[in-house]
Amino acid sequence: MSVPLRTAVDYVEDVSPGSGTLPPRAWYASSDATSLSLNGDWLFRLSPAAGAEDDSFAREGFDPDGWARIAVPGHWVLQGHGSPVYTNHRYPFPVDPPRVPTENPTGDHLRVFDLPPHWPDRSDGEAVLRFEGVESCARVWLNGTELGTFKGSRLPHEFAVGRLLKTVGNVLAVRVHQWSAGSYLEDQDQWWLPGIFRDVTLSHRPVDGVRDFFVHAGYDHRTDTGTLRVDSAVPGRVTVPGLGIDVPTGEPVTVPVEPWSAEVPRLYEGVLATGGERVPLRIGFRTVEVSDGLLRVNGRPVLFKGVNRHEWHPERGRALDPATMREDVLLMKRHNVNAVRTSHYPPHPAFLDLCDEYGLWVIDECDLETHGFTEAGWRDNPVDDDRWTPALLDRAARMVERDKNHPSVVLWSLGNEAGTGRGLTAMAEWIHGRDPSRPVHYEGDPDCRDTDVYARMYAGHAEVERIGRGLDGGPRRRRRLPFLLCEYAHAMGNGPGGLAEYQRLFESYERLQGGFVWEWIDHGIAHPELGYAYGGDFGEELHDGNFVCDGLLFPDRRPSPGLVEYRKVIEPVGITGDGTDGTVRVTNRYDVADLSALAFSWSYQVDGETVASGPLPVPPLAPGESADVTLPVPPHDAPAGEAHWLVRAALAADTAWADGGHVVAWGQFPASERTAPHVTATARPRTGDGVLTLGPGTFDARTGALVAVGDAAVDGLRLDVWRAPTDNDEGAAWQSDPRCGPLWRGIGLHRMRHRLDAVEIGEDALTVRTRVAPAGRELGLSTVYRWTSDGDRLRLTVCVLPEGDWTVPLPRLGIRFGLHTVDRVRWFGGGPGEAYPDTRMAAAVGRWQSTVDGMQTPYVRPQENGARIDVRWAELGGLRVEGDPLFLLTARRWTTEQLDAAAHRTDLVPGDTVWVNLDHAHHGIGSQSCGPGPLPRHHLRPRPAEFSFVFSPLPSRSPGV
Ligand code: GAL
Repeated sequence: MSVPLRTAVDYVEDVSPGSGTLPPRAWYASSDATSLSLNGDWLFRLSPAAGAEDDSFAREGFDPDGWARIAVPGHWVLQGHGSPVYTNHRYPFPVDPPRVPTENPTGDHLRVFDLPPHWPDRSDGEAVLRFEGVESCARVWLNGTELGTFKGSRLPHEFAVGRLLKTVGNVLAVRVHQWSAGSYLEDQDQWWLPGIFRDVTLSHRPVDGVRDFFVHAGYDHRTDTGTLRVDSAVPGRVTVPGLGIDVPTGEPVTVPVEPWSAEVPRLYEGVLATGGERVPLRIGFRTVEVSDGLLRVNGRPVLFKGVNRHEWHPERGRALDPATMREDVLLMKRHNVNAVRTSHYPPHPAFLDLCDEYGLWVIDECDLETHGFTEAGWRDNPVDDDRWTPALLDRAARMVERDKNHPSVVLWSLGNEAGTGRGLTAMAEWIHGRDPSRPVHYEGDPDCRDTDVYARMYAGHAEVERIGRGLDGGPRRRRRLPFLLCEYAHAMGNGPGGLAEYQRLFESYERLQGGFVWEWIDHGIAHPELGYAYGGDFGEELHDGNFVCDGLLFPDRRPSPGLVEYRKVIEPVGITGDGTDGTVRVTNRYDVADLSALAFSWSYQVDGETVASGPLPVPPLAPGESADVTLPVPPHDAPAGEAHWLVRAALAADTAWADGGHVVAWGQFPASERTAPHVTATARPRTGDGVLTLGPGTFDARTGALVAVGDAAVDGLRLDVWRAPTDNDEGAAWQSDPRCGPLWRGIGLHRMRHRLDAVEIGEDALTVRTRVAPAGRELGLSTVYRWTSDGDRLRLTVCVLPEGDWTVPLPRLGIRFGLHTVDRVRWFGGGPGEAYPDTRMAAAVGRWQSTVDGMQTPYVRPQENGARIDVRWAELGGLRVEGDPLFLLTARRWTTEQLDAAAHRTDLVPGDTVWVNLDHAHHGIGSQSCGPGPLPRHHLRPRPAEFSFVFSPLPSRSPGV
């Protein structure tokens, strides 16, 4: 006789969405009905399999002796029970839908609660128990009675529970399974984190209370009027005092209004009142449409300057608190971001309230991804199997019904990377029918059968330009659709490079309606030994390493240089000039707002110091308009030196998201030429005691190696071409272009040998001839160091001549050396942050200073970082270095080899030496960790090069240097 082993848990592997839940409805944060948050401390027991424990824990009177305590909302794997698993698209279990492994971590959660004293009597209505998010499958009991089961992790589920409630001692029992049939639909690139990770609430539902309602609030830009109609399952009245509206539900009313937009998020407060309840409304009037091939809001095309946002907190995972959500929105607004794709699931509903309030365009994406089926050519893909369609429709409905009243939501997205199939078509049809007011997005269908916009991810610049020009061909329907990059510029590690070039394309072709950088934040998990953990750090048998750390924010929400660059590239005001005609060109790049909210100012800088400044009157240009604004005459008494104009646009007054004075845009351009440092070779080399001196320089007389400049000891100065490959250098394995990191290592650029060929002591110069080359190759770099001096300063000219057949770009080209006792670093050049050839827009020329530690960019996986670009001169460790031409500067307390070997920041142990790189050039950064490499113009091709540095000892230790 065979025993039906799994019957008790059949629902786990059932493709249906669940049982016993109420139909989905609109979300609202507050009403005058009573509610009780059930967030907090719950009792918890973890078992290894779905059926390992019987369900007696759900009964009243069960003794939870020995159970742990757990925070709800939360994930048990982040609270000491089991561990997280990270995979990109591979399912971390055998693919055999809808079956899941027997090893199915199952968390039993218990919460005993009393009703608050004022809780209404049962005769006054129903009570609803609501779960905002549980991963991945739950079975729920109240006071021993089973309520039902559900799947759909990032979607709400409700049960009617009034009949079961008691005044005191209610026992709420929730069994949560990590794996379920639903997991096949939730294969997003992120940590697998089971648990009740969003709020649990009990709400009283008054007799004649508000149930579902749909706010339709369109805007007609031709008449500047809004039309409001609130459909409500329970009839009532709608009032909007600010607009003098007081109408029954279901009845349209048209009045003059200010429209809602991400730039000017005008909301009107209102109330929906039914016989039993009053629900506050926040109404934003706007109309979204695709017409004449463009996506328009309120009649105007919009340009998305977006980010993909996963919910993430380094300690709490996807259990985000309101303060963190607000911080995300504020950070976005302050960095000029105007749009969010809620990759790849509907966010906590409160996040959308913030988007309404502060102003962000939102693509709300359904909780759906089946990417792992790509491994078998999409065979058995649930979205093309009718048995799964009810589950897909359930997900679509739960998203649309919950979020339909948010003006910020301008597009619905069916999900991400789920291939194509009938189920997706069914979702699109349902959504189009239920809410014709919003276009539908989905990237995975190249034919755009079900979508109203053409979306792609990671297309390179050339292809995006072809699409912009309408030369991309493809199916007829697609050719008529507006285009957006729902993902681009993979922000993994150092990068992304090439943002400015994408933005130029978006601004040049109207069909290109912008993009969404992948992604907002690194999903590093705070770890006591590793700093931040990534895939593999919890011993997962299958994982995708640090591919989970690919955000514009570090896990602790500090902006990475990528975000600082993005902010600059997407500035809403263009400020350009060439310093020749006394004017600056100002362009309004907003879609909606004029420039009246901004105050402009100018400053005139000489050698990086501001010598004069003042306000700059700029007309309140309308969107798209430009003006040439006259700059003042530079001050007569300005000191001689290299001069720049800096023009800034700042908020004229406080806003909800930043204080007055916050700079939203700036432009800097030269007002004079720079004079390169000049050293007349007058000093003569002198030898004695095994050393050779030339001006302030001391050398090893045998090898010609520099050993000191003045009092500053210098170690191992030599040519350097190696950088610790960035995630973008390493590239993703599936990229078709050759990936630099592996090529560089293949050739041996990380183990170059330096052969000394000659030390020539001339009349006025020391010349050291070398050949720098890797073992096993005939490739090499003939490298000549020529030292001269005027007695005070020491000039090094490096000549590099590639020999052999070089087919790969160099990582970097410059010199490196070790210094001691460096604390502060001062420089005149690009700053304050890191910049590389294709990530340099945010670097402003100025005088900057930092500590060596402060110059390190804390990428979760250590890699090349921290270069300061366009450096004219730098002072550190008792030395001053001037460049001819400008150079890139890095300084760190470990070698490049140590940086390369480190897997986490905690592997980097400072030594006694500060290693300084002065680079003539760097290879671009690009975005090849998932996307195109650096554009050809940012390749560092091996070719003959000559560059110089002038060293001088600092007179005495200048304060702080
Ligand atoms: C995309 C995917 C994202 C993420 C990204 C790479 O293909 O939609 O979820 O995996 O690649 O980080």
